[in-house]
Amino acid sequence: MAKEYGHYDDAAREYVITDPCTPWPWINYLGTEDFFGLISNTAGGYSFCKDAKFRRITRYRYNGVPMDAGGRYFYIKDGDTVWNPGWKPCKTPLDFYECRHGMNYTSIEGRKDGVTAKVLFFVPLMTWAEVQKLTLTNTTDKVKKLKLFSFQEWCLWNASTDMENFQRNFSTGEVEIEGSVIYHKTEYKERRNHYAYYSVNATVQGFDSDRESFLGLYNGFDAPQAVLEGKPRNSVAHGWSPIASHYLEIELKPGESRDLVFVLGYVENAQDDKWESKGVINKRMARETLSRLDTAAKVDAEFKRLCQYWDNLLQIFSVKSADERLDRTVNIWNQYQCMITFCFSRSASFFESGIGRGMGFRDSNQDLIGFVHQIPERARERIIDIASTQFADGGCYHQYQPLTKRGNDGIGGGFNDDPMWLIFGVCGYLRETGDFSILDEPVPFDNVPGSEKSLFEHLTISFDHVINNLGPHGLPLIGRADWNDCMNLNCFSNDPDESFQTTENKTEGSKAESLMIAGLFVFSGRDYVELCRHLGRNAEADRAQKYIDEMVVSVEKYGWDGEWFLRAYDYFGRKVGSKENEEGQIFIESNGWCTMAGIGLKEGLCDKALDSVKEHLDSEHGIVLNNPAFTRYYIEYGEISSYPAGYKENAGIFCHNNPWVIIGETVRGNGKAAMEYWRKICPAYIKDQTLHKVEPYVYSQMVAGKDAFRPGEGKNSWLTGTAAWNWYTITQFILGIKPTYNGLEIDPCISPDMKEYKVTRKFRGATYEIEIKNPNGATHGIKSISVNGKEITGNLIPLFEEDSFVKITAIL
Ligand code: BGC
Repeated sequence: MAKEYGHYDDAAREYVITDPCTPWPWINYLGTEDFFGLISNTAGGYSFCKDAKFRRITRYRYNGVPMDAGGRYFYIKDGDTVWNPGWKPCKTPLDFYECRHGMNYTSIEGRKDGVTAKVLFFVPLMTWAEVQKLTLTNTTDKVKKLKLFSFQEWCLWNASTDMENFQRNFSTGEVEIEGSVIYHKTEYKERRNHYAYYSVNATVQGFDSDRESFLGLYNGFDAPQAVLEGKPRNSVAHGWSPIASHYLEIELKPGESRDLVFVLGYVENAQDDKWESKGVINKRMARETLSRLDTAAKVDAEFKRLCQYWDNLLQIFSVKSADERLDRTVNIWNQYQCMITFCFSRSASFFESGIGRGMGFRDSNQDLIGFVHQIPERARERIIDIASTQFADGGCYHQYQPLTKRGNDGIGGGFNDDPMWLIFGVCGYLRETGDFSILDEPVPFDNVPGSEKSLFEHLTISFDHVINNLGPHGLPLIGRADWNDCMNLNCFSNDPDESFQTTENKTEGSKAESLMIAGLFVFSGRDYVELCRHLGRNAEADRAQKYIDEMVVSVEKYGWDGEWFLRAYDYFGRKVGSKENEEGQIFIESNGWCTMAGIGLKEGLCDKALDSVKEHLDSEHGIVLNNPAFTRYYIEYGEISSYPAGYKENAGIFCHNNPWVIIGETVRGNGKAAMEYWRKICPAYIKDQTLHKVEPYVYSQMVAGKDAFRPGEGKNSWLTGTAAWNWYTITQFILGIKPTYNGLEIDPCISPDMKEYKVTRKFRGATYEIEIKNPNGATHGIKSISVNGKEITGNLIPLFEEDSFVKITAIL
């Protein structure tokens, strides 16, 4: 059996890491609203409030040596031995180590020479602070005298300039120290109205706030001079690199335990309320937060609230089947990952620096379908934010910055799939909530006041953006790129200093068209038509349907390559993703979307396309993006051909778009194939954790494909549309519980060996307990269905009143 570094504890909803030397830092996320933290299994990581770039609280070094240096460290000096509960940074061998990553909390426990140190990290609900509750226990029969040092390093707020502008930074750092609280107030005296603080609920015997004094200039985090000598320097930082370290002398009798509460917090003051007196920051709000968290009992109560919050979120959808891996994916980790992706989009992970990317337009719309059932109000707000960055012609800013909610000029627009994702996201929201009032909300263009049109009109112009931008084959022009950011058909770059995604060296007369957008247009265009009909806007529905029918004809006529759907036409109007091509003959995106949309289903095109996917793209670890992989740079394709074969968009297994094929398989009723594909990429089924490398409890964006040097190696874990797409796929298309405007549709498509399962689903205020029985080993097609004991015709469970309990039995 392959080596395992940990295991699931489903009852506690935790992943338990038992070996600190994981093949890559295995991280978790703290915080649900504004204050966030990333924490690795050895307590590495960083914190920020609201915006990972502009309001970075603690410093982090990316891609450092050794990996994952810097974080929330506690140093325990017991005689001559110095150790950390999370093993790092000292790496003193521990007698016991365990890290439990749970729902927005992490607890790390280390034991050494009869002392147990357990730290619980979490961000209490509605609080701008991270709590670190440290419990020290003496398990020996002798008195233990310990020296404890805490440690955090402040980031000078802007995570980007913090790493580059040293001629300024090394002179700006400022702190204030009052009792057991170290305040970080760099730049507060000028334009900032925020500061951070780090406290402990006990009297300290010393402190440090200057990094060099604490560490010694030539030492690393693994050997701070102050700790090694057991003597704090009581340093006050002036410029250079401010830190926060408390020093406590702790005596523990045999068997005694002591709790200490450390709080890392953030405050914003009103402009006219910034100061207590000249040069002294106004600490009122920090004190208020600290008074809410100054005892272990108060902290425990907050922790309970957080756990209850998660109980409630996870009650909305749960499944019980014979397969515990399926259950834990659906009931715990997939939903959790969707929520994290909602909070962070693609900004801050161990693969995203938090300074590079804002929120993606298409990304955020796709993420919506993963969390709308849990936090519909926030989904509503997100939709309005996203739609407000749309341009009047229906095009969209590709990204926006969460702090300002404005589109990012650096990237701009021109990604021609973006508009359709708004329809996709909004319809997902409406089906879940039935909140049609959102369609009347006035929403501006490019955030310009006075330009508002209703959200419904935004959907119309989104739809029209596609039909106003058709190419010579009647297929959608691709613009800078479609879903595949790296398929840059108008880029033509020979200059390594140009960005593939923002450069368009040839656009004039471009014939570059996308079959992926065509499939998306048919699929989500039908959503638009259905919505119009539901609203009684029949003329608009008819108008839209006509364009969809025309698109289907164009795809069948110009988008079919004989055995599969083409991927695109390039700038010159030549086929991409055709057997005529030298490399990149078949792609996942167009075959996924066109089969999802059922284009040519009756004529057998979907069957052929899916069989071709199986033959050419399937592999042991999942479906690769294209085949054969590109082995040289194609200037007419751009970034996709820049990657080595088997990585990222060049024939990597993009876990994000595997679900498109899986849904395609459900369209043709092949539940066996659908579930086989789903299991291949689902983390709960990973066989070799060392090979997979990244966290085994969440999806990663990419797993190296069959042409790669190390097929099966995962990268870019956590922040990926993969979470939402797999959630959508497993719950709606495989388990088959689909929210619709008029009720819940029951339409499973499963493996024939799945004999029964039960889903509990809260929907529009009522609770539905749905039992699916499959006595004859079918894959799809409900034979009979009863609602509260009464047979119904069809498979739509109508809406029930709030608080009703509805029992459904469906037989396949
Ligand atoms: C981006 C997506 C994009 C995908 C494929 C991801 O990194 O966030 O917007 O669709 O890559 O290129």
